[in-house]
Amino acid sequence: VGQENINTDIVTLTRFLTEEQTKYPAASGDFTLLCHALQFSFKSIAYYIRRASLINLTGLAGSSNTTGDDQKKLDVIGNDIFISAMRGSGKCRILVSEEEEDVIRFDEHPNARYAVVCDPIDGSSNLDAGVSVGTIFGVFQLPDSALGAGKTIGPEVLLSPGTELVASGFTMYGASAQLVITMRGGGVNGFTLENSLGEFILTHPNMQLPAKRAIYSVNEGNSMYWDEWCKQYLHSLKYPAVEGEKPYSARYIGSMVADAYRTLLYGGIFAYPADSKSPKGKLRILYECAPMAMLFENAGGLAVNSRMERLMEVVPEHIHDRSGVFLGSKDEVQKVIDMYNKYN
Ligand code: AHG
Ligand code: MN
Ligand code: MN
Ligand code: MN
Repeated sequence: VGQENINTDIVTLTRFLTEEQTKYPAASGDFTLLCHALQFSFKSIAYYIRRASLINLTGLAGSSNTTGDDQKKLDVIGNDIFISAMRGSGKCRILVSEEEEDVIRFDEHPNARYAVVCDPIDGSSNLDAGVSVGTIFGVFQLPDSALGAGKTIGPEVLLSPGTELVASGFTMYGASAQLVITMRGGGVNGFTLENSLGEFILTHPNMQLPAKRAIYSVNEGNSMYWDEWCKQYLHSLKYPAVEGEKPYSARYIGSMVADAYRTLLYGGIFAYPADSKSPKGKLRILYECAPMAMLFENAGGLAVNSRMERLMEVVPEHIHDRSGVFLGSKDEVQKVIDMYNKYN
């Protein structure tokens, strides 16, 4: 029996980030250090997620957040871990979290040049059922004018479109912890947490979405609230007009990170349309829509809102602003656009 072909040329996230940094001779190393703090928070959150049922961390925290969600205990713990990791990095100046009504400023680091947005636990309503949840993040670089002691920077620096993001990604806490990260203008790379080493290992280099795939992912329970064009779009997937064409498969997990990860790997379309119940949509622009849109575009896919505008160009009106979302394989998003154009 051949010896298990042990891959010794292991690329850890730490090595990957250091190698990435060498591509930018002027780099100060601040971004790399910020990413180490991000990495630490994912490892810590993964640790608590794995043990939640064992140490009574499932269930509600008894509070709700500014977007109206009931907070789970792990929402609060994930939020606390993330905030302290960003503060401790000394490289984050200002932070937006789903679980915090206002921006969090780290005035003790007046020269920190990064702003971070995050959804500490995405899909938390699924937590008690043991379904995959995740952490979504985005990184903006602050303008030099915002640096320096005594400067108070407000939330307006974060009311930027996704095109201003320098990096984004998510970590899905599933069968294993899967980190997916992309830099502006770069590729998409997937890492798997090797628990015994405590290292994220590069397992999915240069992730590229298939151009099409007959899988759709949407909460059909909202169908009665959808616009007519949207109803017709979903109907066209389920009842193909062309004789002999097979209907699409439906896959909806209800955690955006899990539905997004599957779509990145298999292709297809993920949608959370704006509708008559949620006219601005449900998903939050800064820490759900924009980071995911950047990942999907850099993986060769497309991401648009409910008016078929490029999601990366949507500017949030406030830090918890929402948008409709259609993202996935290029040809699948094009089908949405074609149906929308028929009706508008
Ligand atoms: P969060 O748990 O961070 O509040 O996000 C939940 C979001 C997203 O993860 C998912 O795609 C969507 O809510 C599911 O909403 P429905 O339950 O309405 O389908
Ligand atoms: Mn929530
Ligand atoms: Mn979320
Ligand atoms: Mn959340």
